Amino acid sequence: MSKCNVVIEKDLVSQEVGFLSFFNGTSWSDLNRQFFDQLAPKYDRLNNVLSFGRHQSIKKKAISRLPVIEGQSILDLCTGSGDIAHIFAAMDPSLNVLGLDASVEMLNIATRKTAQFKKVSYMHGDALNTGLMDASFDGIFIGFGLRNLQSIEAGLTEMNRLLKPGGWLSILDLGKPSGYLKQSLYHLYFERWIPFLGKRVFHKGEFNSFEYLPKSNRYYPNPDVIAGMMSECHFRNITIHEYLLGGIVQHIAVKP
Ligand SMILES: C[S@@+](CC[C@H](N)C(=O)[O-])C[C@H]1O[C@@H](n2cnc3c(N)ncnc32)[C@H](O)[C@@H]1O
Repeated sequence: MSKCNVVIEKDLVSQEVGFLSFFNGTSWSDLNRQFFDQLAPKYDRLNNVLSFGRHQSIKKKAISRLPVIEGQSILDLCTGSGDIAHIFAAMDPSLNVLGLDASVEMLNIATRKTAQFKKVSYMHGDALNTGLMDASFDGIFIGFGLRNLQSIEAGLTEMNRLLKPGGWLSILDLGKPSGYLKQSLYHLYFERWIPFLGKRVFHKGEFNSFEYLPKSNRYYPNPDVIAGMMSECHFRNITIHEYLLGGIVQHIAVKP
């Protein structure tokens, strides 16, 4: 099996993360969409709590590493509440930014957030099968989205198809801190404290998204494997950048 073709059994993940006790659906994508639809009103607050208020500055830093040029067409895949689209547009209003997401509730928030920017638009769709034309974008950003897709391979293949030759890809997602101290801190914070906080304070009686985070990350490959998958899916010049002690990782690559 090629490294690009790491199969993650999403039926098992649905069970493990507890989707089946809260939502009705037969496919991973259906359950995941219901999860994000119900989370949408709390999503921005959740990010602030989880990242100690640092997710915006991390997203800005990640964007600052990219070879963005005036007037480029950028796809913000799995745009969610539109943070990434907003940062691109605020940085350079000449950019044409399209945000795509499967959750209508998330897109409603994103649309309000970027209403002042004329060149930001949104599309409801599936990152694995966007229906957009080949080679339509100079750059693609996917923030905390790859971990949520039914198939990482299918996602990377679609991103490769959508990029122009020479176009850049940036993947920002959870990482796997290495080393005893970082791993212990990660375990204590993500696997113990955060799920407890979610259950007792943030999500009383609701699906606990604070538990989804560490559980979904257990099934997400480590950064080196993701880099290998990107290479197998024909991306080149792959670099890896760590934030928050490796708790968040960015992959940057180019389509030759
Ligand atoms: C954790 S949020 C990330 C939002 C945003 N990019 C950010 O950085 O804050 C993940 C988003 O991926 C979307 N998503 C999950 N699977 C998708 C798919 N197959 N196609 C499009 N969007 C998807 C969800 O609806 C959700 O809004």
